[in-house]
Amino acid sequence: MRRLIAANWKMNKTVKETEEYIKKFLKFVEHPESREILICPPFTSLYVASQLLQGTGVKLGAQNCHYEKGGAYTGEISIPMLQELGCEYVIVGHSERRHIFGETDELIHKKIVACLEMGMRPILCVGEKREEREARMTFKVIETQIKLALAGVEEHIDKIDIAYEPVWAIGTGTPATPENAVEVHTFIRNLLNELNPNNEGKTRILYGGSVKPDNAKEFMKYDAIGGLLVGTASLDPESFSKIVYSF
Ligand code: PGA
Repeated sequence: MRRLIAANWKMNKTVKETEEYIKKFLKFVEHPESREILICPPFTSLYVASQLLQGTGVKLGAQNCHYEKGGAYTGEISIPMLQELGCEYVIVGHSERRHIFGETDELIHKKIVACLEMGMRPILCVGEKREEREARMTFKVIETQIKLALAGVEEHIDKIDIAYEPVWAIGTGTPATPENAVEVHTFIRNLLNELNPNNEGKTRILYGGSVKPDNAKEFMKYDAIGGLLVGTASLDPESFSKIVYSF
């Protein structure tokens, strides 16, 4: 299975900055078919990004979506709108959406169901807070988040990727150790097998949280790690390309 290396720009980069970034980044891209490279810019940059990425093999994704196709939802963006721009992926349930904007497991579940119905591949983010880790609740928290998000759609597990992003490691400069990550990834893999014994193992489990060019290789040494979701270090094209080609 090809590993997925995804850039989550969060609320960064104007259209002009997106243009500059992508032109520079593409100079570093070789053999895009050897791994799946994904860029998730803010909504306002999707159009220009889709124009520049056409035919390059680099994929485009969004950072969020609404679960309805359209309607009276001021400020929201639907999956068909994203698909028209060439988005193949959408990040769902990122910890900043959960903890800053109050997204619940129920809302995240609706978004996952909508993605599956509308043919969009979601990257479901899960992860425990520091106090939860300290209280040894990591596995319980991850299990609850995954079970609630995937309730009733277990048969489609192969059409989803999961990103394990411990909240305490996001944007802090201190990642989980690769061994910690592998332990949780193995737990998630076993849980997916339990939820759907017939799954074909196509769900990639990514690690995210303070991934940088100098630590990416350590994570990618392990087969259990199916890719990386990169925030801060994806904002510079050279730094992101070093992570993309770290393995
Ligand atoms: P970070 O963010 O790489 O800046 O820690 C990762 C993420 O939030 O997806």
